[in-house]
Amino acid sequence: MTRNTAKGCFIAFEGGEGTGKSTQSRLLAEALRDRGESVEVTREPGGTAGAEAIRELLLHPPGEGWNAQSEALLFAAARADHVARLIRPMIEQGTFVVCDRFVDSSRAYQGGAGGLGDAAIQTLHAFGSGGLRPDYTILLEVDEERLSERLAARDGDVSDAIGGRSAQYHRAVARSFRDLADSDPDGFIIIDGMGSPEEVHARIVTALGPALDT
Ligand code: TYD
Repeated sequence: MTRNTAKGCFIAFEGGEGTGKSTQSRLLAEALRDRGESVEVTREPGGTAGAEAIRELLLHPPGEGWNAQSEALLFAAARADHVARLIRPMIEQGTFVVCDRFVDSSRAYQGGAGGLGDAAIQTLHAFGSGGLRPDYTILLEVDEERLSERLAARDGDVSDAIGGRSAQYHRAVARSFRDLADSDPDGFIIIDGMGSPEEVHARIVTALGPALDT
């Protein structure tokens, strides 16, 4: 893997619910700031005013909710705004962008578990966001049993429209992420998300290694 040298660097964290993406995004950003880098931490769906408004529609849908196609389009629309208004400008100005989820979440949730297929998601991404790929995509993996414990502790009975889907759906999401990573070994860094946040962070720093040196 090589980094976009002259410009900033775009790093995405991916994985199912409760795998530690938000914590690891924060820890990586702190480590990069300690090295003197300018860092923007953001998330999907969201990251801009428009995309945050779409997030609310997706996670707390009005009426009877979205069908699979509408859901995929809304994620792609949120991403298009996020890429155009925040991610691309930040990369252009030399900032590290650390994003909690990106297009591979749409590929795993809507394309894989949701049954729309990868080609449809890639088409939406090409149209909406010029097909932008992160420089590094870090897939965090945690055992299903450990995940249920973490999620029960974090969310209790309160979950959103997507987080609250069946165990079978979330198993399909995890499998899709793994299939995407296995079919593109250069495009993903798979990290064992078991253990303390500090242990997982150390694995990530080691895996990124010299790639982060500017
Ligand atoms: P969030 O609370 O950010 O999830 P997490 O549990 O990772 O903290 O909610 C985002 C939800 O949206 C999560 O269930 C995953 C889902 N999602 C998709 O289905 N497709 C996507 O493209 C993205 C970015 C998220």
